[in-house]
Amino acid sequence: MHKNTKEMTELILKAKEKAIKETSHEPEPEFTKPISWPITCTVGPGLEGAIACETKIGYVNGAKGWLIYRGYNIFDLCAYSTFEEVAFLLLHGELPTLSQLNVFKKKLVQYGHIPLTKRRLMSFPVERMNAMAALRLGTTFMRQEFTDVESQEYINDTVKIISADEDSIPMETKPMGEKHAIYEFDEKKLLEMKIRDNLQHATGIESCHHLVAGVSSLVAAIARIKVGRLPIEPHPDLSFASNFIYMMTGKVPSPIEERIMDISLILHADHGMNASTFASMVVASTLSDIYLSVGAGIAALQGPLHGGANEAVIAMLKEIGSVENTKTWFEKACAKKQKIMGFGHRVYKAYDPRARVLAPLAKYMSRKNDEGKKLFKIAEQLEKEVLRTLGKEKKIFPNVDFYSGIVYTCLGIDSEFFTPIFAASRVSGWTARVQEYLLNNRIFRPRAMYLGQFDKGYISVKNR
Ligand code: SDX
Repeated sequence: MHKNTKEMTELILKAKEKAIKETSHEPEPEFTKPISWPITCTVGPGLEGAIACETKIGYVNGAKGWLIYRGYNIFDLCAYSTFEEVAFLLLHGELPTLSQLNVFKKKLVQYGHIPLTKRRLMSFPVERMNAMAALRLGTTFMRQEFTDVESQEYINDTVKIISADEDSIPMETKPMGEKHAIYEFDEKKLLEMKIRDNLQHATGIESCHHLVAGVSSLVAAIARIKVGRLPIEPHPDLSFASNFIYMMTGKVPSPIEERIMDISLILHADHGMNASTFASMVVASTLSDIYLSVGAGIAALQGPLHGGANEAVIAMLKEIGSVENTKTWFEKACAKKQKIMGFGHRVYKAYDPRARVLAPLAKYMSRKNDEGKKLFKIAEQLEKEVLRTLGKEKKIFPNVDFYSGIVYTCLGIDSEFFTPIFAASRVSGWTARVQEYLLNNRIFRPRAMYLGQFDKGYISVKNR
């Protein structure tokens, strides 16, 4: 491991020690026992407290501020693992052996080659689109690669399109199968079967791998297009984290930059039944496919109350402008009952363990980055102000989004790409949880309390 990256590991292990000192990490009995349906939950607005399913993928200990992926605590995974290992762990249940890891790494590079998808995406004005909207569009195009009936293998052996000519045009209204029809499918059954087989792919584990690789490739491509450059294909010799930065910037990152990105991707990979994971699962529970489920996850993650907060934090810190102005700004924000971006959490009522890792990394990275240094100092002061007040009164602490933007700023990444980077990591959690839920699928369908009227008589429009 590179000398400087050893320093990262030490910072993470120090954060772990601090977390152990400040909180016990005993699991909460009410959230770690088998379910025998139906169960009784105390449910608040926004399904707060509702238990939707059982899982072995990850556990968020909200009271104590601990995060577990498949039994491993997040500090150890950040200190010793890589995103490739963690994505494999989430999807397959165990850390990979060396040979499994090598096969998985090669597959991620191979699936990260999506030139057809990128070509389709570039037929849209991506440079003027919201990055997350472009990303969601890209994942829909990715779906085509597994279910694309235009791809050669179908044209050759199943569909012989009878060439249209002007005097046969009127016939196109004739029902299919008429000799004169413009399009007639030979061996129609075979084609339908083939498409159906491929649609299976659009829900299976291969599609999950395809998306874990493809989403980061798409994020990088969108970042390149936004600065008027062409996308870059993944390099076979680079790690996932290194390739991600390379495809985004065109430069192979330093070992430190690679390690920082790797740790950040590990930190963002999974987090219980958060809004975007739940959105993916709801779509998948209708037996829609994994590409469209991930599209729903991307849509949900975009919001500033969720994954969009990391970008909003940087805008907030820039608005505060200086350490000296922090207290005044904060008091005004509290007076307006304004939500402080990067703080608070539906589940954590303790310090977010991910912020425990990202804060020292942000401090470390900002030493040699003027903009990062200024942002970090304001963030540190704001954290003090919040902990002194909201922390005590309402158990509001920094969450994963508070320091992540400063880390990415020090990596030279534009704030518009902070949330897409979050998506490039969380796609592993979304796909893992969808796959797990489909093993015992039941369509999600809650109820709403009806407070409307009854028995109203219909009045025709002319008398209204
Ligand atoms: C992520 O779910 C996940 O796991 C998400 C995530 C993941 O990995 O997937 O962890 C990632 O989304 C992190 C959160 C990023 N969002 C932000 O940083 C935006 C700012 N945070 C808040 O909007 C809020 O804390 C939420 C949305 C995160 C949680 O909202 P809740 O649980 O619905 O809490 P709430 O809005 O009902 O607030 C409860 C009280 C209110 O005060 P009262 O009305 O009771 O007096 O706490 C206050 C709120 O005003 N409060 C805040 C606050 N968050 C809550 N007050 C000031 N600043 C805040 N940030």
